[in-house]
Amino acid sequence: MIEEQISLVRERLAATKSLVVLTGAGISAESGVPTFRGDEGLWKTYRAEELATPQAFQRDPQLVWEWYQWRRGLIAAKVPNAAHEALVGLEQTIIQFQLITQNVDGLHAKAGSRNMLEMHGNIWKMRCTHCGVKTEDHSLSLPALPKCSECDSLLRPDIVWFGEAIDGKHLEQSLSACQNHEVMFVIGTSGVVQPAASFASIAKEAGVFVVEINPAPSLSGLADVTLSGKAAEVLPQLGF
Ligand code: APR
Repeated sequence: MIEEQISLVRERLAATKSLVVLTGAGISAESGVPTFRGDEGLWKTYRAEELATPQAFQRDPQLVWEWYQWRRGLIAAKVPNAAHEALVGLEQTIIQFQLITQNVDGLHAKAGSRNMLEMHGNIWKMRCTHCGVKTEDHSLSLPALPKCSECDSLLRPDIVWFGEAIDGKHLEQSLSACQNHEVMFVIGTSGVVQPAASFASIAKEAGVFVVEINPAPSLSGLADVTLSGKAAEVLPQLGF
């Protein structure tokens, strides 16, 4: 069954000039990065929703930084998998290609993806809570409370937390990409966090051909084709 669907998608891709791809934590699962809502999604006893908020950071910045230091350490050793690499192949083949990721792990960039929007930010970037200066820092031994080199105020991860707005330009570009490509892939996202959770239906309404790739599909009937499987197994079969 899945072979037939893979052939269908392969044929569709061969005839398409534009592809938009939305990815979530599932695409990095086979690199060993735990998803947020899977069995390994907890850190100590905390769920992401309890720590990735401005309120949690205000209450206990050290705890939130401790969680990010743990995640940075975990991610630093990981490498892109066959799914990240297949998307690089697609980008090199299809004339118009846009990748939108909710992931902050930087693995798409590490694989070589170029035309990419990291809509939730990047775990290797930090921002000053006072002067707003942004820095990129890959250190795995940050101080418990990292400080801004310009004004000595507290730094925070440059990540969009629950309750915070996506950068307006990123949102506009993402929405436009979802509406203006012929085909959309939705890979490895549970579709519970807005606004990304609406992107597939926005694309569908605009007449885009939607393909979901996920071992536990989340688009419930919206996708034109559902490839039920792991991203790193399914994507390479598309032949790019
Ligand atoms: N290949 C493809 N998909 C997979 C794989 C795999 N190997 N393994 C798991 N999945 C799917 C799961 O079935 C699930 O649908 O990946 C999805 C992971 O869902 P979440 O953990 O909820 O991750 P995501 O949708 O990216 O979360 C969105 O929530 O916590 C916030 O900001 C954080 O960006 C994150 C956002």
